[in-house]
Amino acid sequence: MRRRHVLTLATAGAVTAGCGPDGTPRQQASSAPAAPVAPAGLTFPKGFVWGASTSAYQVEGGATADGRGPSVWDVFSHEPGRTRDGGTGDVAADHYHRSYEDLDLMRELGLKSYRFSISWSRVLPTGRGTVNAKGLDFYHRLVDGLLARGITPLVTLFHWDTPQALQQAGGWQQRDCAKWFADYASTVCYSLGDKVQSWLTLNEPKTVVEVGYTAGIHAPGVRDRRIANVAGHHLLLGHGLAVQAFRATGRKGRIGAALNLSPVYPADDSEAARRQAVLADAEENRRWLDPVLLSRYPDDWLAAQPADAPVRTAIREGDLAVIGSKSDLLGVQYYNPAHVTAKGGRVQKHPTTQASWQEVYPQGLYDLLTRIKRDYGDIPLTITENGMPSVQETDDQDRIVLLRDHLTAAHQAISEGVRLEGYHVWSLLDNFEWAEGYTQRWGIIHVDYATQQRRRKASADWYQQVIARNGI
Ligand code: FCB
Repeated sequence: MRRRHVLTLATAGAVTAGCGPDGTPRQQASSAPAAPVAPAGLTFPKGFVWGASTSAYQVEGGATADGRGPSVWDVFSHEPGRTRDGGTGDVAADHYHRSYEDLDLMRELGLKSYRFSISWSRVLPTGRGTVNAKGLDFYHRLVDGLLARGITPLVTLFHWDTPQALQQAGGWQQRDCAKWFADYASTVCYSLGDKVQSWLTLNEPKTVVEVGYTAGIHAPGVRDRRIANVAGHHLLLGHGLAVQAFRATGRKGRIGAALNLSPVYPADDSEAARRQAVLADAEENRRWLDPVLLSRYPDDWLAAQPADAPVRTAIREGDLAVIGSKSDLLGVQYYNPAHVTAKGGRVQKHPTTQASWQEVYPQGLYDLLTRIKRDYGDIPLTITENGMPSVQETDDQDRIVLLRDHLTAAHQAISEGVRLEGYHVWSLLDNFEWAEGYTQRWGIIHVDYATQQRRRKASADWYQQVIARNGI
């Protein structure tokens, strides 16, 4: 489970987690600048896709520009106490007005792929109905700019920013939201579909369920596990309907979901911990992978739902066939493993970062990728997010070490036959990190929020070399 902002995990071993009350890190994986990282001598397969990720609300700003309507995150971030520093996405990295500069930075890095998301309420200000042509034009210009620089767009349709008007009509807890999402997907996929070949439906539905609807730390700030699971089902239904809507446009290309997954390990050798780990795996992974790739919910996950859980009636006949509509690719996002105790609790066993929920365990990425192949076959995979926040302004050697170690794990998985096509670092730019506001910097490019000046960090220089030699 991803728990952000509040730390509810017990910690184990020598690792202390997270931030002090003022947001300063206590102990981190390796926060001090270290010696420059030497090449490991590992070459990736020819054509490996090196990319970077962002999402609309986190970088764009231009919150009311050119007719954009509000999303749940506009409303939520403006409520007192919702973000650590009171930050909002009103301006963020002002990517909406600086996309050409950012495109040039991407070209200099040598990026092959840029994963970004579309702000639903920029295109459809109230979530449905009339298209805001100026909003859609922004994405046309962005895509044209990418293509002109030889960078392939990888477009996420939903990265958590549900239009506020739809939230008022019930949002994801309301079944119709899946249909509204598919209609929006159809509009965007048709309009951009002559230029964009790769699409992602949802970003991390698990985080929406866990953090947005259960912990209430993210928009829409609901704290109700029962409602959360209903929303989770409707998100999956929205994914399936969007896949079908994309096919119906007749546009060529590939579509799939972007899931945050965590390999799950028993925290000790006990039989009870092993049993709990299997259950946790259902919640962390199979509950998302099985419907999308196998058209079913895991039996143990269903059995764990109380008899009167509203999700039981939310799942209607035929839904799983829709959700399991053939995906062409799977986006994998990896930040942490999960260690489960005999009582079903969680402990951390590896170093954390400024993001206290993160646990640095590169081997987990190898375990995850090989497990997907074993249990779900050879669907093309791309890593759509991986990275860490660093407190180093630009000499972020800690990030370089983390990226290198995860790429080493990915390389190992590829050499054992995993069909991993690409890797997208989170993130291209420092940005609005949701409930953490601007207190965590995840970018390989530094953003001075006072001037909006961009500066490459050491990790950007390192990544440029990685891309140039197609290896680490
Ligand atoms: C992921 C989100 C992304 C960013 C990173 C740090 O869960 O998809 O937007 O917040 O975490």
